[in-house]
Amino acid sequence: MHLTRLALADFRSYSSVDVALAPGVTLFSGPNGEGKTNLVEAVGYVATLASHRVAHDAPLIRQGAKRAIIRANVHGATHDALVEIELNPGRANRVRLNRVPLAKPREVLGVLRTVLFAPEDLALVKGDPGERRRFLDDLLVAMAPRYAAVRADYDRVLRQRTALLKSAGLKGSNRNIQARETVMNTLDVWDAHMARAGAELLVGREHLVTALRPHVERAYAAVAGERGPATIEYKRSSVTDAPAEFAPLDEGTHGERVKAAAEALRAALADVRESELDRGVCLVGPHRDELDLKVRALPARGYASHGESWSLALALRLASFDLLRAGREDPVLILDDVFAELDAGRRDRLAALVAAAEQVLVTAAVPADVPPVLAGARFSVTGAALIAGAGDAA
Ligand SMILES: Nc1ncnc2c1ncn2[C@@H]1O[C@H](COP(=O)(O)OP(=O)(O)OP(=O)(O)O)[C@@H](O)[C@H]1O
Ligand SMILES: [Mg+2]
Repeated sequence: MHLTRLALADFRSYSSVDVALAPGVTLFSGPNGEGKTNLVEAVGYVATLASHRVAHDAPLIRQGAKRAIIRANVHGATHDALVEIELNPGRANRVRLNRVPLAKPREVLGVLRTVLFAPEDLALVKGDPGERRRFLDDLLVAMAPRYAAVRADYDRVLRQRTALLKSAGLKGSNRNIQARETVMNTLDVWDAHMARAGAELLVGREHLVTALRPHVERAYAAVAGERGPATIEYKRSSVTDAPAEFAPLDEGTHGERVKAAAEALRAALADVRESELDRGVCLVGPHRDELDLKVRALPARGYASHGESWSLALALRLASFDLLRAGREDPVLILDDVFAELDAGRRDRLAALVAAAEQVLVTAAVPADVPPVLAGARFSVTGAALIAGAGDAA
């Protein structure tokens, strides 16, 4: 698939911009702070309903404006779509698909699929486990949009169960036996909810990691061209023994796996209940799981060099791209400022790997950093305006 047009109103630094896009490579270049990333951030938002830079929408709305609008025309093999998103700070977004308002914004997920590489990706390797869980969940939703509901469901159950644990307030208090029993019975119900919702998410992630693994290993070798291997493994917070290895997704047994995972989660919840009541937090479940990353059998976080960490982050994105395009249309590939971070060899290898994608949107402060194999359309970005065809001389 590819974008044919992107129009923004009061999004970040842009009061108004409207740009026609074509398949192949498009390079946005210009000095720091002129609005290159703002553009591709909007594209990513259409695909994921979230920014890759900030957790909340407020910074996406132009200073002084009340709301922002993103319009994107998507051309796919089987459909053309116009997505319109109105971002309202503090309120739900309004999303229209082909001019029809959607009941839930998340119904738009899947219309545009993107894989975005950005300097922030280093946090996938060096950051907290939450970064890696979000990576898995975002990819899961991109692969199968129904996981957006699974994820929302789990988040809701987790919030409510945590609130219950906190309000139980049994820590050090002398509540009577009756009150304690009421809390325990309510907790039993929430344990069941949490096990059911959590198992669905957990099994989805485990399948995903199994599918992703060979792609990550290959992509790491391709980018880094150095001693490997890089490996990934899903670690449940609810078990201490080695995780079960799964065969590729098989519908016939998916239900059984979810059931087994739900039982395991329930047992784990029962095991930690006392400490949960003491601490007022949910101690096991997908929100505490980890995606283990290793380079040459050492944990990437804390051991890998800067270059190795970058290569691994790139490998995770490239692997996502491979997985998303397998048997389907290419997602739109976005490379935000990644070439400046790489040495010449890695630049060339990365460029060669992505050059054939249906549409590649590249940003760079210095156009010369972008390898020649990624020649294509060019825009010069200055003060939130776009000048087509500029920057060729660089
Ligand atoms: N909500 C907003 N309202 C107005 N301006 C904003 C808003 N959010 C960001 N900006 C401005 O947008 C600019 C940053 O744009 P962007 O991140 O796209 O730059 P860039 O061209 O990618 O730069 P670099 O080369 O450094 O990555 C900053 O000058 C910032 O002040
Ligand atoms: Mg930028």
